[in-house]
Amino acid sequence: MSIAEIRTIQWRDGRVIMIDQRRLPHEEIYLTCSTYQEVAQAIQSMVIRGAPAIGVAAAMGVALGINASSAKNKDDLEKDFLGISERLMATRPTAVNLSWALIRMKRIFKEYFNHPLPALKEAIQKEALTIYEEDIALNRKMAAHGEAFIRDGFRLMTYCNTGTLAAAGYGTALGVIRAAHEAGKRISVYVCETRPFLQGLRLTSWELYKLKIPQTVISDNMAATLMAQKKVDAIFVGADRVAANGDVANKIGTYMLAVLAQHHRVPFYVVAPTSTIDPNCPNGEEIPIEERDPKEVTYLREYPIGLTNVPVFNPAFDVTPAAMVTALITERGVIYKLFKRPHESEINSGYDKDK
Ligand code: MRU
Repeated sequence: MSIAEIRTIQWRDGRVIMIDQRRLPHEEIYLTCSTYQEVAQAIQSMVIRGAPAIGVAAAMGVALGINASSAKNKDDLEKDFLGISERLMATRPTAVNLSWALIRMKRIFKEYFNHPLPALKEAIQKEALTIYEEDIALNRKMAAHGEAFIRDGFRLMTYCNTGTLAAAGYGTALGVIRAAHEAGKRISVYVCETRPFLQGLRLTSWELYKLKIPQTVISDNMAATLMAQKKVDAIFVGADRVAANGDVANKIGTYMLAVLAQHHRVPFYVVAPTSTIDPNCPNGEEIPIEERDPKEVTYLREYPIGLTNVPVFNPAFDVTPAAMVTALITERGVIYKLFKRPHESEINSGYDKDK
């Protein structure tokens, strides 16, 4: 199947269907969720992941839950709504797109609360589909803004997976890279494997392969050497939450790349929709960081690769200070204001080869 045919998530006949990202790249298997509890479980267990995709899944989860509600009166329906939202909200704490989508669903629930039940259910379902469709359109806009930062011949680096699989379609940072390729620029991409969950190795590499974009997979600890050898012209990553001061939470290891990029004067771009900006979160220290099962570090799939009885630290995200971000590329345009302005030489020209 081509990437254009891959559906990360879709609403079909009152059910939610997702490609099971845990099985990629070797198996393209779709999973059907008939209840909101199944959607919550799918988010938690990484069947679906990536901030925008999680937001869409949560919205569709609400629609499933409300559709199935057997509440006989509005008070009970409200209790059901709150229960559904709470369960979905408890799945993954860092990506703000999740609460952003749930707040949108709540707004519609309140607006239609006094309408007949079928109208309310229909409005809820419509909003979930709107969030899905909007996400695809936003991705295209970000790609158009971001593509301008990529020149013919650029050797790019990316982290985690920010493509079709991380969104309703097309993607954020990988969407920008894809747009540059589609514009005919001869680019190549260093794909960091992204330990411990290997979203780069398993998912980004798979997407780039399908898109026929030249790639080289590296383990994360090889990024410094490539930058020292001046083989990286720009780095593009996504975000799970951008604090009001511009600090960026993204996949664990992103900060490490940003520090390296600063040292080696490689432009470091973050690509995220404005729904990922959290105005209520003043700075990176306030961003809740999810900690995941230690087994993700000590096991490769079901195989133990290290001692399984020693303490393990497994935060899923880290925070990159705003000052290390060259620019934040959103669907509404590019933001430099919150950040240190990049030097002219850093935009559109890659690293400064003489430094
Ligand atoms: O744990 P994941 O796989 O959900 O983490 C995903 C990321 O960190 C992405 O970079 C981020 O969500 C942006 S996706 C467009």
